[in-house]
Amino acid sequence: MIKVAIMGCGTIGSGVYEVIENNQAVLQKELGEEIRVAKILDLRSFPGTPYEKLVVNDISLIVDDPEISIVVETMGGTKPAYQFVKSCLLAGKHVTTSNKALVAAHGTELLQIAREKNVNFFFEAAVGGGIPVIRNIGTGYAGQVIEEITGILNGTTNFILTKMDREGASFEDVLAEAQRLGYAEKDPSADVEGWDTCRKIAILSSLAMDGEVDFEEIETEGITKIDTADFAYARKMGTSIRLVGSMLREEDGFSVFVGPMMVGMDDPLYSVSGVFNGIVIRGNQLGVTMMYGSGAGKLPTASAVIADIVEIAKNPARNVPFGWHAGKLSPKPAGARLHRFLVRFDGADAAAAQKTAEALGAKAPVFPDGGAEFAVLTEALTKDELKEKLAAFPNVKKYIRAALNGIA
Ligand code: HSE
Repeated sequence: MIKVAIMGCGTIGSGVYEVIENNQAVLQKELGEEIRVAKILDLRSFPGTPYEKLVVNDISLIVDDPEISIVVETMGGTKPAYQFVKSCLLAGKHVTTSNKALVAAHGTELLQIAREKNVNFFFEAAVGGGIPVIRNIGTGYAGQVIEEITGILNGTTNFILTKMDREGASFEDVLAEAQRLGYAEKDPSADVEGWDTCRKIAILSSLAMDGEVDFEEIETEGITKIDTADFAYARKMGTSIRLVGSMLREEDGFSVFVGPMMVGMDDPLYSVSGVFNGIVIRGNQLGVTMMYGSGAGKLPTASAVIADIVEIAKNPARNVPFGWHAGKLSPKPAGARLHRFLVRFDGADAAAAQKTAEALGAKAPVFPDGGAEFAVLTEALTKDELKEKLAAFPNVKKYIRAALNGIA
């Protein structure tokens, strides 16, 4: 029998227990033997649950148990997850985690320890929930130069932006609804400030570039400043606004950013709505592909953990190539990357607005249904070039990136 321990029995950890029980028959068929959760590490006791008797409070009961070969880390955060995972790997146990904060902050070291100990440190569930994006980058895109990864990587913010678009509702109102429905946390900062997406695109960039991309070096902006007027302009232009994390390989390096972006109807990300995630990957020979699906939630995320467990169980005595290798890679400033931009200006004078539009390479400005302002969708520019041009316009209100292609 394969014995698994789970560290952290919250939403995802209890989901892993459930999937192992629910899919026991299919798992046994695939692995040729029984697989069971033997211990669950948590400070709580879970009376009345089927796993009540499995709960332990002391990590050494897992680290020192020779019968446990696979450990699942679903605690979240880095303290004490980092020390616990490291101890398990050093004790020769395989580890799979759903914890993007842990992987983004300590992935390089933990991957290295796993290689030295000839075990595996997997983290399929850390990005894209149930979408197998991490394993795909390593295997499905093997032999490919990955030129770009642009993804909607956060279900909560995508739910909020989709509702703002479809219902014309304000950010504050939709956030409150998302919190009521349990999508958004009480403290929603990690999602709405873009920090969650930042860690996820850091992990995907590290995989694509085969080196550590520090999430702290990624230009990150969230969605808190997106308002109903931005969506009104976006709709008039046949577009929508999404929060994306994006990595672009450039001639002399690569750049990464997280921020809101206008996408046109022909953009594959336009149709990624609600709590779903979508990740567009462009390979140098492959062209464009997109993976789409449940990017968060108990059972989708637990399913990605299970896929890791199955691969570990099939390779009990071998470190399967996975992740990236040591070596810190610094992204180039994202301000040098080409985009179009939606720029909003104060003022209702049609002639002045027309001149402004032409100065930014647009045929004409776009006026809202009411209010003394207008917007311009610029030609392709870098953010640095845009800022230089906008210095001549004291009436600039704000600007939002727009996709380079796919907007009429
Ligand atoms: N808060 C995250 C999201 C959870 O909304 O996508 C999954 O990482």
